[in-house]
This record gives sequence, C-alpha cells and structure tokens, in this order.
Amino acid sequence: MIRGLALSVTVALIAATAVAQDLRGHGGPVRALAMQGVTIYSGSFDTRAIVWEGTVARQVTRAHAGAVTAVLPLPDGRFASGGQDGHVAIWGAGVNPLSFEKWHDLPVADFAPWRGGLASASWDGQIALWDGTSERRYLDGHDGQITGLVAFGDGLASVGADLRLRLWRADGTPGPVVDLAAPPADLATNGQALFIAGADGFLRRVVPGAPTTEVELTTRPLLGIAADHDLIAVSDLTGQIWLLDPETLEIRANFSTGQGAVWALVLSGDEVLTGGNDGWIRRWTVDGTALGSGAGLPHPTLNNPRGAEVFRACAVCHSLTPDDEQRAGPTLYRVFGRKIGTAEGFDYSDALRGMDIVWTPETVAELFEFGPTAYTPGSRMPEQRIPSASDRQALVDFLQRAAR
Ligand code: HEC
Repeated sequence: MIRGLALSVTVALIAATAVAQDLRGHGGPVRALAMQGVTIYSGSFDTRAIVWEGTVARQVTRAHAGAVTAVLPLPDGRFASGGQDGHVAIWGAGVNPLSFEKWHDLPVADFAPWRGGLASASWDGQIALWDGTSERRYLDGHDGQITGLVAFGDGLASVGADLRLRLWRADGTPGPVVDLAAPPADLATNGQALFIAGADGFLRRVVPGAPTTEVELTTRPLLGIAADHDLIAVSDLTGQIWLLDPETLEIRANFSTGQGAVWALVLSGDEVLTGGNDGWIRRWTVDGTALGSGAGLPHPTLNNPRGAEVFRACAVCHSLTPDDEQRAGPTLYRVFGRKIGTAEGFDYSDALRGMDIVWTPETVAELFEFGPTAYTPGSRMPEQRIPSASDRQALVDFLQRAAR
C-alpha cells in the first residue's frame, strides 16, 4: 500500500491514481532493491540506480561501469549505489555523485547500514566499513566471495562462498562463526533470526547459539531473500516466490511472478516488491495477488490510443506539462523544436548538454529506433527501444497532441 503519497497530480492529463503500480523504467534486469518509507531505491544491470516516489521515478543516476548490484538509503536524503565495477557512489539530489570511489577489487555484493554510513561486502572477500565521515577500514570477511551482508544486533552478519556465516561485533571484531551446509545466495534478518537463501534450494534459519532449522523449497538455486517481523520472502531463478512464517518456516504462499529470475525483494507491511529479469519492479499482496496494473500511469488517449499506450513507458519519468513534476526526466511539454538539454530548470547530464540535436518528430522517433545509448551516448535515460516503426509514429503523434 502506498502511504502518504507525495505526488503532484496533473489534473488535465493524468487521471490521478492511488493504486499501486508496477515500476517500469529500467533498461535491464533489476539487481538490487531497498525501501525507506514510500521511497524505493533500485539498481539494475542497465548501470543505473533509480529513486522512486510512489508511482514515479524521481531520480535516475548513472556512474557505474557495470551493473548496480547494491543500493542503500543513507541519512539526510542521500543514498549509496555499489556496482559490479567495485565502486561505491554516494548520491545527493544532483546528477553527479557526491563521491565515487573504488572500494573493492571485485563486484560489490551487498550493503548494510553502519553507524550513520554503510558497510559494503564484496566478492573479493572484504567488508568495507565507513561511518559517513572518517576513512573507511576493511575487515577480512571471508575466504572468497561474500554474497550477503546485514546489520545484526549492534554489529553485522555476513555469509560467503567459504560456507560460513560470520557475526561481527559493533567495533568490527569477529564474533561467532556458523558453518553452512550449502553455498549461500543471500542473507536477510528480522532482528531476531538470520535467514539464508541457499544455492541448494533450502531456506535456513539461524539463531546464534541455537540449532539451525531449514526447509527445502525447490531443487533449483534460490536467489534473493527479505525478512520482517511477520514474513520471509524468498525468490529463485525462475521467478518463483515463497512467503514463509519467520518462526516455523511454514509456507504461507507460493506464486510465480513471470519475471524470469528475481534477484531482489523488499517486504513492506502488506506488500512484496520483486525486481526481475524483465527490468520491472512488481508489487504483490502477501497472498500473491498482483497489485500493479502492469503498466505506467494512465493517460487520456487524445484519439491516439496506441500512442498513449506507448507513452505509458515514459510517464514514470516525463511529464507533459510545463512543470517536470519532479520526475526523473525533463518535461516533454513542447519538446518539438526544443534543442536537446535545454528544458528550463532540469539538471541534465554533461553528455546531453554538449549535444546539438533539435527534437522533432523525426529525431524523437530515431532516439527510440536506435536507443538512447547509441543516439545520445552518455545519457542517463535507461536504454529502451521501440522496435516497431508504427509505434514510434504513434508516440510522436501522441506527443504532438499532448505536449503542446
Ligand atoms: C527511467 C526514467 C526514464 C524513462 C522511462 C524515459 N526517460 Fe527519457 N529521459 C530520462 C532522463 C533522466 C533524461 C535526461 C538524460 C540526461 O540528462 O542525460 C531523459 C531525456 C529524454 C529526452 C531528451 C529531452 C531533452 O530535453 O533534451 C527525450 C526526448 C526523452 N527522454 C523521451 C523519452 C520518451 C519518449 C520515453 C518513453 C518511450 C522516455 N524518454 C522514457 C529518463 C527517462
């Protein structure tokens, strides 16, 4: 359920909707998800991180050379993204990161909150600790890849390919170690217990000092896991989701998302969010009912139903009014005739600012024939193409009617 939705709703064009929508904006599989209040943070193989507010994308960031594999909200409205490139970026509201540094030799696997800053675990076996101000320091976490990291007690817990669950005290000194029966894919906690999604299809529940309990969910590898007080959510390579009781590990629901591999999961009250191979973030009730309509914000069709339909994929990031409504992209109001990178008040990437395309029905159609990566290299807009010439035509016709 979306609470306290802070959306400025455009009366003329966009029928207001408080219904939960699927979040569709990434140009590749969704690899990481985090949530704070109504704000959702996502990272993707498309190298972008997106910040979502309600049903719209508020910010799209681009800095990493590969997939964004971890995201974490930080104090003061900032957030962190970690990548396959071993880099960590700290973001404020702007287009450029506040900092962007190489933290690890190998991909970042997971983040956890750490003393006002963050802890970052990597495939290189190291855990970096950063309190938000001083120099970071490193723990020799595991022998080989680390695959999961969470804040636990007043310290941390991590799992790795060395088949160990390790606990870390608040000062970073090592605590107890628990041996694991299979390689761990991911780790979650609800504060009381630690839950491990296993590559052997088992979910394991560990409470330090007590016997480990487990349940076999599938013969395929599990991928992602999330936990809160009432529920655990686990995903696998085929897009199956299991929702289980955190005490008894009894299965309460099992459904298929149809998204291909689901890498990332978030639990929020009575909703489950899944980030999948299809590039979508989908919403589900805890009994597995799809909440999103499967598309973007609805629009009046302006006698061009196909064009309005194609534009649904743009509406999460672009308004059609003079105001950009704090969406992640510039307004497309009167886009035709406008030079690229010149909508007033919008913070463009340096790449777009330096180009001299003028937007016409032809150039906008070409943008999505070839895709932003080829047509406007360096653009923050996630990769997307409209393969059908008639769909591109319908889109620009719709924009000509709607955005003037
Ligand atoms: C996930 C967010 C997102 C989606 C979805 C998206 N865009 Fe964008 N778009 C952006 C961002 C961000 C920019 C600015 C890029 C930059 O500054 O590098 C942009 C730039 C543009 C521009 C250049 C505008 C200018 O002022 O120069 C056009 C045109 C455009 N988008 C059209 C579209 C259309 C049409 C769609 C749907 C088919 C679409 N976009 C989907 C985020 C998005």
